[in-house]
Amino acid sequence: MPLNFDKLLAAIARHAQTLTDAGAVADYIPALARVDPSQFGIAVAGLDGSLYCAGVAQRAFSIQSISKLFALTLALQREGDALWQRVGREPSGTPFNSLVLLERERGIPRNPFVNAGALVITDVLCQRYLQPERAVLEFIHRLLGRSTVAVDAEVARSERAHSDRNSAIAHFMRSFGNLRGQVGAVLDAYCAQCAIAMSCAELAQASLFLAGDGCQPRGARVLDPQATRRINALMLTCGAYDAAGDFAFRMGLPTKTGVGGGILAVVPGRMTICAWSPRLDATGNSIAAAAAIERFAAETGVSIF
Ligand code: DON
Repeated sequence: MPLNFDKLLAAIARHAQTLTDAGAVADYIPALARVDPSQFGIAVAGLDGSLYCAGVAQRAFSIQSISKLFALTLALQREGDALWQRVGREPSGTPFNSLVLLERERGIPRNPFVNAGALVITDVLCQRYLQPERAVLEFIHRLLGRSTVAVDAEVARSERAHSDRNSAIAHFMRSFGNLRGQVGAVLDAYCAQCAIAMSCAELAQASLFLAGDGCQPRGARVLDPQATRRINALMLTCGAYDAAGDFAFRMGLPTKTGVGGGILAVVPGRMTICAWSPRLDATGNSIAAAAAIERFAAETGVSIF
């Protein structure tokens, strides 16, 4: 990695900080609305073991939909390609919590990152593990090599108490036979998984296997290379929901966003980047974090294209 990354990230953080007034914090999960919206952090983790940070890169935030990456990886480890019989691989072109395609497509969600798809993945984990949310957390601990990450119980309770939309999606899929467990148990696990709190530095380091063809830097294989490349393909086409095209255009990298304001980007063969700032645009993606990753990609030339 070039030696001037510290300087570059500091400049990006200064600029991103000026963008933190734009947009709105997610408030459909009331506990998320209590976060200080003026915060910004960014971390870049290299496959060579390097870590560069700027802003509040070590402060834990609600990872929300970024957790879907870890749940999907676990489900793929367990199920392999059989998973694709229950969830598709197409962008939805609809908001992350939309129901509209599900009736026409007989309860098969478009992809594993829209809420419907993530609920199917959670259902798979519920069949495989007695405590599926613990399985996701312990998986993250193994990836990091330390047990410093936890579920924010208040955020989990808050989302669970306001989960009418996800509940409707889950019941609807169950009516088509594409949810095997009880809706309540699936929602409990899903809300806990989304409420995992991690910092930019932790998220960048935990997801390095996505840049490393399925291996964490110290060599442990997490997933086979083909499945790993497919996750990156899904991130590029579906990771930012109906903004995925715009993100590919602006950043040219596989990304996964969360309504907590985090965005994780993967540079295959090289590094991961995680930026965080709580205020979101209309598609549910962080404005300052997206701008920061866009600028990082422009200044370093790391687009995959
Ligand atoms: O299910 C939900 O609505 C949230 N727990 C996660 C949504 C999310 O993060 C969408 N990402 N931008």
